[in-house]
Amino acid sequence: EKGGFEHFMLKEIFEQPQTIFDSFRGRLDAEQHRITLSGLDAIQDRLLAARRIIIVACGTSWHAGLLAEYLIEELCRINVEVEYASEFRYRNPIVGPEDVIIAVSQSGETADTLVALENAKQQGATIFGVVNVVGSSIARMADAGAYTHAGPEIGVASTKAFTAQVIVLQLFALKLALLKGTISNDRFSKLVEGLHAVPSQVEWILTNELENIKAIAAKYKDASDFLYLGRGYNFPIALEGALKLKEISYIHAEGYPAAEMKHGPIALVDETLPVVFVATKDPYYDKIISNMQEIKARKGRLIAVVSEGDEVGATLAEDVMVVPEVDEIIAPLLSVIPLQLLSYYIGIERGVDVDKPRNLAKSVTVE
Ligand code: F6R
Repeated sequence: EKGGFEHFMLKEIFEQPQTIFDSFRGRLDAEQHRITLSGLDAIQDRLLAARRIIIVACGTSWHAGLLAEYLIEELCRINVEVEYASEFRYRNPIVGPEDVIIAVSQSGETADTLVALENAKQQGATIFGVVNVVGSSIARMADAGAYTHAGPEIGVASTKAFTAQVIVLQLFALKLALLKGTISNDRFSKLVEGLHAVPSQVEWILTNELENIKAIAAKYKDASDFLYLGRGYNFPIALEGALKLKEISYIHAEGYPAAEMKHGPIALVDETLPVVFVATKDPYYDKIISNMQEIKARKGRLIAVVSEGDEVGATLAEDVMVVPEVDEIIAPLLSVIPLQLLSYYIGIERGVDVDKPRNLAKSVTVE
């Protein structure tokens, strides 16, 4: 059942070229430059009139939601809020018929997310579900939606469900941008072609970086803390990298916006602290390089996810994990892969039961 892999988590990491493809099968036409999302069509009028979009989720799904905030605001020019379901539901939020809520959930059963949505629906909001489990409670209560098609995820730590959520949210943002006229045909076509290439690029990382990442894991396995830093579209990936490490290795880790580190966390940096930069080539590249220099000057141990061919980043860091260079909007789908593998192998090095880490449940149906 683990298909020759030692753990479900590793199997699910390796399934991603396929699950990403499955998530855009029938939706993304890279030749005609077309995106079909019938769930979006169903609430198209509400979306075009929406005062704002509110994304509600927990955990890893919340990280996919944070990415979607950046995407939808940039591409569709609609105001987006991202909410932790547990906070949103208890604080008596201002919600009404002009709001569209996107619910992101692998299981479709997370109690806080479900109740937050029920409350918002009662106040007249439209609910769009980005859910993996077909027929789950959240999928049934949503007005419309798009399934993620990642297949059953058994490992407690979410991997392939996350990349599938990101794909669906990218398709959603691109399609909505086209309908709103906020994206040029040229940029749209380039991004559609870019998405189409992702499965083979993920495959490339899994093939070329595996042994390197295993060695990095063995080298840093005894660290007691990790810091993960990123900017822009790579900031949610820094958060996700840190969460994955906590869950699977029991090492304390924090994700932070790279520039925000100067406002506190930099005090933690010394020669024992591994600092993982998500530093792929994007418009903030020079800024992140200078953040790396700041950490290096304080003797932090620099590990970086860099774009293929980036000599500057590669020279600056003590250890690097390489990913193909792509548009910044697509980059998170690639930069998360080495971080999933790093957590997995550090967990293995430390003898953690990675498929069932202590204290965690696959779906949190208590509040
Ligand atoms: C992390 C993880 C959790 C879930 C969270 C939400 O690896 O699996 O943080 O992402 O419990 O679960 P869903 O997406 O089922 O609502």
